[in-house]
Order: sequence, then C-alpha cells, then structure tokens
Amino acid sequence: MKVFLITGASTGIGEASARHAVDAGYRVVLAARSKDKLAALAEDLGGPDVALAVTCDVTDFASQQAMAAAAIDHFGQIDVVFANAGVGASGAGTEAGNVDNWRDMVLTNVLGVTYTAKACLEHLTASRGHLLLTGSRAGRIILKGSVYGATKWAVAGYASNLREELNPRGIRVTLIEPGLTDTPFFDDAKPDGLTADDVARGVIYAVQQPESVNVGDVLITPMPR
Ligand SMILES: NC(=O)c1ccc[n+]([C@@H]2O[C@H](COP(=O)([O-])OP(=O)(O)OC[C@H]3O[C@@H](n4cnc5c(N)ncnc54)[C@H](OP(=O)(O)O)[C@@H]3O)[C@@H](O)[C@H]2O)c1
Repeated sequence: MKVFLITGASTGIGEASARHAVDAGYRVVLAARSKDKLAALAEDLGGPDVALAVTCDVTDFASQQAMAAAAIDHFGQIDVVFANAGVGASGAGTEAGNVDNWRDMVLTNVLGVTYTAKACLEHLTASRGHLLLTGSRAGRIILKGSVYGATKWAVAGYASNLREELNPRGIRVTLIEPGLTDTPFFDDAKPDGLTADDVARGVIYAVQQPESVNVGDVLITPMPR
C-alpha cells in the first residue's frame, strides 16, 4: 500500500484529503503542530497500521526532516507528499496588514513548502512519487495589496520550477489551487465556499492518474449559489 504524507493534516483541506486518501487505499502520515487533533484523526482513520500522526512545525527544517524520518521508520516508504500547511492574513492588504503575520505567512506558506519538498525528495526519488503543493486561486489573481496572495503566487512559481526539476526524474508535481473553501482557515463560516471534501476530491483525482500523466494545475472554485 502506498504512503501519502500530508502537512497541515490536522484540519480543513489536509484532514479531508487524509480521509479521501485512506478511502482510496493509501496509508497516511499526518503532520501539523496540533498533536491531539492528529492523534484523534489517526485513531479515527484506523490506527497505526493505516495512519501515523507526526507533530511537525513546517517552518523548522529539522522538524520536517524528523517528519520524513518518522514516516520512513514507520511505513518504509513515501509515495505521495502533499505540502498543504498554510496560514492566512490577519488583515486585508498592506495598510491593514500586520508584519508579524506577514512573517508567519512567508515562513509557513513559502519557506515551509520548500522545506517539505527538500525533506522528502530523497524518498520521492526512491518511489518515483508525486508531490502536490497547495497554492490558491489567490495565487492566480490580483488582490489589492495582498501579502497572502503574494505567498501563493510564490507557491505557483515554485510548483512550475519544481516540475521542471522533478518530472525528468520521474516525480510528478501538482499545484492544487482552491478558491474560497469553508474551513477553520476562517473565523466565520463560508457557506458560499467549497467544502474541504470538494478540494480533497481534486487532490485524489491528480494522484490517481496513470504514472505517465502529470496533472499540473488543479484550480477548483465554487459555483455561484
Ligand atoms: N480555506 C480557503 O479558502 C483556502 C483557499 C485556497 C488555499 N487555501 C490553502 O489551503 C491550505 C490548507 O488550508 P485550510 O483551508 O485547510 O485551513 P486550515 O483548516 O486552517 O488548515 C491549515 C493547516 O495548516 C497547519 N499549519 C499551519 N501552520 C503550520 C506550521 N507552522 N506547521 C505545521 N502545520 C501548520 C494547521 O495545523 P496546526 O495549526 O495544527 O499546525 C492546519 O492543519 C493552506 O495552505 C491555505 O493557504 C485555503
């Protein structure tokens, strides 16, 4: 059984993707900072034979290396990596933005994704695996003064650059670009948004294509209600 590692697996899109991955026959490695949430999810997904919970801060490279090592110790392989952990903006645009929040966003959304790729690369090379990155529709459109949007433009650029580096080595690279999605990312409910399950189905679509097919971009947006 293939092994599917997800960062930002404690809630939202990552949690939903873990559930869909298990339904699709994968074993999963669940990484985030919230130890209790990850432990409860791992138990719910079937316990240690199916799901491994690993506490990890994606802004810390050593923590990501330890995450990859724990996955290999437990399951012996990593076939799919979903670099999904991310944080949002505390205020819209630049004038209302907060510089400490900008630091968190850049470290988590940009540097964290590069660390995940680097920490897992050796294992994806061994498995001729698949790397997915969570960008955003906000990384394709202009949002007035948005630093969050700029972090997702960076993820989109990095995904394209990685595809050039990794496809020739047999590793597939997919950028997942959700529009508004109703998750704990927001303090209030987003009834007009996608559900996390809607995005997770796009993730599973990309990984279930034949190995001769690289799905480059998956842009998923809600229909007007
Ligand atoms: N919701 C949307 O409308 C939307 C749209 C487009 C793209 N996205 C992107 O989708 C991804 C998932 O977001 P979501 O909507 O599912 O929100 P979410 O429910 O808030 O999930 C974010 C996940 O990232 C983890 N995380 C945050 N900082 C971390 C860190 N330093 N180290 C490890 N894990 C960390 C969180 O877990 P812990 O707090 O337990 O660490 C959580 O599991 C993000 O990259 C986000 O930018 C969201």
